[in-house]
Amino acid sequence: MDRVLSGMQPSGPLHLGNLIGALSNWVRIQDKYECYFFVADWHALTTGYGNPSQIRDYTIDLLMNFLSAGLDPEKSTIFIQSQVPEHAELHIFLSMITPLGWLERVPTYKEKKEQIKDKDLDTYGFLGYPVLQTADIIIYRAKYVPVGIDQVPHLEISREIARRFNYLYGNDFFPEPEALLTEFPKVPGTDGRKMSKSYGNAIYLSDDEKTVTEKLRTMVTDPARKRKTDKGNPQVCPVFDLQKIFSTEDERQEITKGCTTATIGCLDCKAILIKHVINLMKPIWEKRQHLIDNPSVLLDIALEGSKKAKKVAGETLIKMKELIGWIS
Ligand code: TRP
Ligand code: SF4
Repeated sequence: MDRVLSGMQPSGPLHLGNLIGALSNWVRIQDKYECYFFVADWHALTTGYGNPSQIRDYTIDLLMNFLSAGLDPEKSTIFIQSQVPEHAELHIFLSMITPLGWLERVPTYKEKKEQIKDKDLDTYGFLGYPVLQTADIIIYRAKYVPVGIDQVPHLEISREIARRFNYLYGNDFFPEPEALLTEFPKVPGTDGRKMSKSYGNAIYLSDDEKTVTEKLRTMVTDPARKRKTDKGNPQVCPVFDLQKIFSTEDERQEITKGCTTATIGCLDCKAILIKHVINLMKPIWEKRQHLIDNPSVLLDIALEGSKKAKKVAGETLIKMKELIGWIS
């Protein structure tokens, strides 16, 4: 089985967009690949260094969400980045051979620095984000990295760093990782914009049934449909974008008919959506609750996962050091 690795930053509570866009995909590919999934807590520190204890809380929460959503420690190696310090050690070596210009050119670097104005991101750690990410990946010699399209520039630089290492020290020691891109529909938030914690439009895995119902019930619809007697157009309605993800083909046909002829109301339409979303979230909520009630289960899984990860990462490090003549 080919090896796959991916990580997620614990930079806030997980929402439905993260679940549909990334996590569900990880859950699906567990049987097909040898998978390593981790909480990238050091990466969260690159922007969140002002509040490390919050990152620690989000780390636990994210790990809980990994498991609640269906990542299975029997199938995948699930761990916390900072519990495998080998990543940091490889990062040191990679940082020596990574040209500054490569890092300064990464598009997400400039974009994020412009977007995030309330934090000083003129730091060494933030610039080096992709180097650490490269260490995360190649220390397991992972072949594929399931990521969203926004992460492709990071993966490109990982390939370049791996190539540079191989060029300097010996051919093909680190395989160049490839993106495993999954086409997933955009998940709109309750205001119709892309679901994001910074827009305040997100539905969180930690929301309860009442909150989810209320958020969806008050979600924006086709603005032309103010009253039930107004005809609507599902193609411009964010609720319908969610229906495309959650409801059945038959239901969507019914909704389209009813909406365009003003024979069903938006609340009827939303009731169908709410039913599906709650059905999806219920088992996740149950598992979450189980983990909250049994905190030692979570810690044991993290410990076991980092042990497994450490073994593989440590072996790569030793071979790497032998190759470059650091040890003999
Ligand atoms: N940059 C990723 C994100 O923001 C997180 C991440 C860190 C990652 N290390 C990784 C993803 C290694 C894939 C592989 O979500
Ligand atoms: Fe949108 Fe559904 Fe209302 Fe049509 S009926 S406008 S698809 S919420």
